[in-house]
Amino acid sequence: MTDRNAPIGVFDSGLGGLTVAREIMRQMPEERIVYFGDTARVPYGNKSRETVTRFSRQIVRFLQSQKVKAIVVACNTASAYALEDLESETDLPMMGVVIPGAVAAIEATQNGKIGVIGTQGTIGSGIYARYIKELKKTVEVVGKACPLFVPLVEEGLWEDPVTDEIAKRYLTELIDIGIDTLILGCTHYPLIRSTVGRIMGEEVTLVNPAYETARELKQMLEKKDLLNHEVRRLGDDRYHFFVSDEAEKFRGFANSIIKYGILSAKIINIEEY
Ligand code: DGL
Repeated sequence: MTDRNAPIGVFDSGLGGLTVAREIMRQMPEERIVYFGDTARVPYGNKSRETVTRFSRQIVRFLQSQKVKAIVVACNTASAYALEDLESETDLPMMGVVIPGAVAAIEATQNGKIGVIGTQGTIGSGIYARYIKELKKTVEVVGKACPLFVPLVEEGLWEDPVTDEIAKRYLTELIDIGIDTLILGCTHYPLIRSTVGRIMGEEVTLVNPAYETARELKQMLEKKDLLNHEVRRLGDDRYHFFVSDEAEKFRGFANSIIKYGILSAKIINIEEY
């Protein structure tokens, strides 16, 4: 029987998945988390399906070695390319970020025009459009790859004229089409949400799949009777972070996103898994 108090495994190509981990911490403070960021092999957004799937399989094996009770693929690109294969290969409950984002966008749209921004991999895979159309045929979905957003976020330029300028170039097309809902289809984008929101205008609803994923994860764990009911104690070490490179850089960035104090991030050799 699965241990309810076991951690949830969360992984991403690097730092971006921390926006998902942060939501899980907010919405389910009792849960333990083992986070893996593939900082040695980031970015995934411009790699092939085969490569992203191979990397994701290794990470799932690592998380299984940590005895997790469920896995969250907290990376849009890995969710787009690898989730279906991963789900068919393991018995653990698993969740990606794409379906929760797609469902929330359908609920939000009034005029039936949804925009999606993400990496080249996510947009090129057409996965958001596929899920949205499966759920509601009449909705129009327009995707736009925004490859410069990830480096801008990682450089810390969350509020910066350079980010504003680039965002305008990427987003004008979506404004012209008249979308009323925009999915932030990359883990890094919630961090530049205010820039994107300002450019898109108040009438456009921004959907943050990180938030939606945590919400759905809670429902899924509840249904499977896997929610952790332990009482939280001061100094309780609930969050463990692992990376494949650059632990210090990860720690610095992580501490700017998550206010729960990341004590350490440990480097592991992911190629061994
Ligand atoms: N985590 C990736 C995603 O959500 C963005 C960074 C990358 O390209 O690896 O698609």
